[in-house]
Amino acid sequence: MKGIILAGGSATRLYPLSKAISKQIMPVYDKPMIYYPLSALMMAGIREVLIISTPRDLPMFEELLGDGSRIGMTLKYKVQLVPNGLAQAFVLGKEFLNGEPGCLILGDNMFYGQHFGRMLKEAVESVQHGGACIFGYEVADPRAYGVVEFEEKHTDGKEAELIVKSLEEKPAEPKSNYAVPGLYFYDNTVCDKAAALKPSARGEYEITDLNKLYLAEGTLRVKLFSRGFAWLDTGNCDSLLDAGNFIATIQNRQGFYVSCIEEIAWKNGWITTEQLAALGKEMKTAYGRYLERLASH
Ligand code: DAU
Repeated sequence: MKGIILAGGSATRLYPLSKAISKQIMPVYDKPMIYYPLSALMMAGIREVLIISTPRDLPMFEELLGDGSRIGMTLKYKVQLVPNGLAQAFVLGKEFLNGEPGCLILGDNMFYGQHFGRMLKEAVESVQHGGACIFGYEVADPRAYGVVEFEEKHTDGKEAELIVKSLEEKPAEPKSNYAVPGLYFYDNTVCDKAAALKPSARGEYEITDLNKLYLAEGTLRVKLFSRGFAWLDTGNCDSLLDAGNFIATIQNRQGFYVSCIEEIAWKNGWITTEQLAALGKEMKTAYGRYLERLASH
């Protein structure tokens, strides 16, 4: 499976912070924001990733991450001229996916919690046989998100199956409290489906409309993140600061880094211990020393 990170948009809710630079390159504590969604794809075992951003910001991502070979990956880049919707990722990414299944993650979505790697791998596995897989996360106020309504189907002796009943984008009166995070897994029909979409009333090619095509086909699955799991928002200055503080708290308490792309590459067996040590040596910071420490253990 291949991955796409959508890291464009104008982030006007962060002005003046984001007036001259991309939101997804801003720090979340000790690393650029895009490290977090990139690490999620890596944990799913995805090694080939397309990064989509604006003409202004794309060169900065290229400078930051290069061709990905330093972390054993292949990274490609594509401009989105106009931010006219998340589903456009699969129009812009058609050539890159080349008929294969694809996972989309939004460049400003951050996930942290136990069993995340396992859930990602299950999602990858589930769409290999066709269909799509999205996630649900319970929030106090879901009106700013895509919202999924589902029911549980119980079969004797088996884990309850979740049946999606409806999907709505930013509903004024949500049918459930489950928001749909910006992480989506699709089979190899996704590009054709995305190409057939029409813009919504607000003029965007909506990811929710793409998901509704799978729902209509009866092939949309939903998995739930539990309440102990963190899906962090970085949409405004307060949530950006909160996300940074959250990462700092976990890292400083445990001594493990969250979303350290070099560590994940090493654990995935994509780079050697020597390469990890060399990457650490390049950075005269706590981050660099962390990589060196991992390599020496
Ligand atoms: O964060 C999860 C939510 O993301 C979902 O629950 C919603 O269903 C989904 O529509 C989306 O809602 P947002 O209102 O958060 O989308 P927004 O327009 O803010 O875009 C999300 C990110 O994607 C943002 O970092 C900018 C980037 N983006 C957005 C658009 C529309 C692009 O790179 N290109 C685009 O065309």
